Amino acid sequence: MEFLPVSPESLSRAAGILRSGGLAAFPTETVYGLGADAYNSAALVKIFEAKNRPRFDPLIIHIAAVETLEDAADLSLLDKETRRKLFLLSEKLWPGPLSIVLPKSGKIPGIATAGLSTAAIRFPAHDAAQKLISLAGGAVAAPSANPFGALSPTRAEHVRDGLGGKVDIILDGGPAQIGVESTVLDITNGNIKILRHGGTPKEAIESLIGAVQDGSFSAAEAAGSMVSPGQLKSHYAPRTPLSVFTAEEIPHLPCEKDAAYLFFDNFSRDLWIKKQNTAANNCLNSGKELNDTVIRVLSPCGKAAEAASFLFETLHELDLSGILRIFAQFAPEEGLGAAINDRLRRASA
Ligand code: TXA
Ligand code: MG
Repeated sequence: MEFLPVSPESLSRAAGILRSGGLAAFPTETVYGLGADAYNSAALVKIFEAKNRPRFDPLIIHIAAVETLEDAADLSLLDKETRRKLFLLSEKLWPGPLSIVLPKSGKIPGIATAGLSTAAIRFPAHDAAQKLISLAGGAVAAPSANPFGALSPTRAEHVRDGLGGKVDIILDGGPAQIGVESTVLDITNGNIKILRHGGTPKEAIESLIGAVQDGSFSAAEAAGSMVSPGQLKSHYAPRTPLSVFTAEEIPHLPCEKDAAYLFFDNFSRDLWIKKQNTAANNCLNSGKELNDTVIRVLSPCGKAAEAASFLFETLHELDLSGILRIFAQFAPEEGLGAAINDRLRRASA
């Protein structure tokens, strides 16, 4: 396994590996991806094996130019109105953290899409990712570069720790800027649906194409149904048990020994600390100094985008720290807050 910083040389080396059917992990603006040539079935099998991913969970196909979209997708199967919406979405939100589910072209092997007639396609907004995809032939299938069910990698080191020996090359492009995966939007039938909340807020999509349905994990859980394979509850989980709490629950949140507390903003943290200093059954009384309690804040001023960028990073760190439980606060449900809350709900499974 090679572990190299992004450079013209390492990009062409990784592209060569992809072209010859190998696996290359690479940075994107959301999380690191585990890439294989999207047109090569034998290479695609290796992705499922490396991640220990069930074959029924389809991959995202990454492209590096809108002009190549029709190599991967068959747009003739969309009606005129849907094509108009696709045009708006691709013009305004690509490149970016949005995967659009479209009818797949005949060139994409069935294994990439778990036998579905559709494929989720994404044009990432990351220079190294774009270069790699172009050099590798224009279409790279890439799930997040983590073992199935585990936390997504936001740093090259996370990939090395999780998949090390199973990847031919890891390109290190530093920490991922957005830090949660792309939004998955299904436009293949009349009811346009968000299948996974992610880096593109629902509000940004709706401002372009009008109201969309919520078919995400959170909505499906509330309705007692499951729609997309990616809605498996055990996704995105740290090894440490995680419990979630709302802002309203802060005054009643216990202070447990060997637990870590992950707050959305400084205001929430300060409120809890104040309560702990006055509560009868607090950390101080239980013989543990509050100063020793592991406390993290995702965004001091309460900005959801900033919080998202530190979410997986912080969970990875806490997972390695030996604490026994994580208490994590839900974000306000707007903007990237929806993606944060979706990951926290699943992590608490
Ligand atoms: O940000 C991202 O999307 C990252 C980076 C690497 O691009 N990739 C990623 O891939 O998160 P993955 O495999 O971890 O998640 C793909 C999600 C899954 O929830 C999967 O079920 C859904 O996309 N998906 C893929 N193809 C689909 C399809 N044809 N229909 C419905 N859902 C699909
Ligand atoms: Mg994933």
